[in-house]
Amino acid sequence: MSERTLAIIKPDAVKKHAIGDIIARYEKASLKPVAIRMMQFSMSTAEGFYAVHKARPFFQSLCSFMSSGPSVVLVLQGDNAIKKNRELMGATDPAKAEPGTIRKAHGTNIEFNAVHGSDSPETAKFEIAYFFPEMDLAE
Ligand code: CMP
Repeated sequence: MSERTLAIIKPDAVKKHAIGDIIARYEKASLKPVAIRMMQFSMSTAEGFYAVHKARPFFQSLCSFMSSGPSVVLVLQGDNAIKKNRELMGATDPAKAEPGTIRKAHGTNIEFNAVHGSDSPETAKFEIAYFFPEMDLAE
C-alpha cells in the first residue's frame, strides 16, 4: 500500500554533511521524496513537534538539540513507507541499530541520532500537516 511518512534529517547529520547520503538511501529503498524543506527549528517548533514527549526527562535537551542548527524535513512516499523508513533508520539508540542502517552510520547516541521517522499512520498524518499544512494528504 502506497503511503506517506515524515522524515527529518536532524542537525547532527546536517553538520556532518550526510544529507546526500541519507536522501540516496531513501531513494534506493523506493521512498520517493514528495516534499522537502530545509529549516532551523525554533524552540517552540521543536516543542510542538515533540509534544508527546513533554513529560520525558530528555524533552528540553531534545528540543534544544533540534533547534541547534538546520534540519531537512521530508515527506517520503512509497509502499509501506512508515515501516520501511523505520527499518532504514534502525533503532533509536545508534548503539543498538543494525549494521547498514542510517542511525548506525550517522548517529552518535540516543539523542543525537541523525534522523526521525513517523512511527504510525496517525503520527505521520500529524507530522506531515505540522510542516506541510498545504499538502494534500490524499495520495
Ligand atoms: P526521534 O525518533 O526523533 O523521537 C524522539 C527523540 O527523542 C528520539 O528520536 C531521540 O532523539 C530522543 N530520545 C529518545 N529517547 C531518549 C533518551 N532516553 N535520552 C535522550 N533522548 C532521547
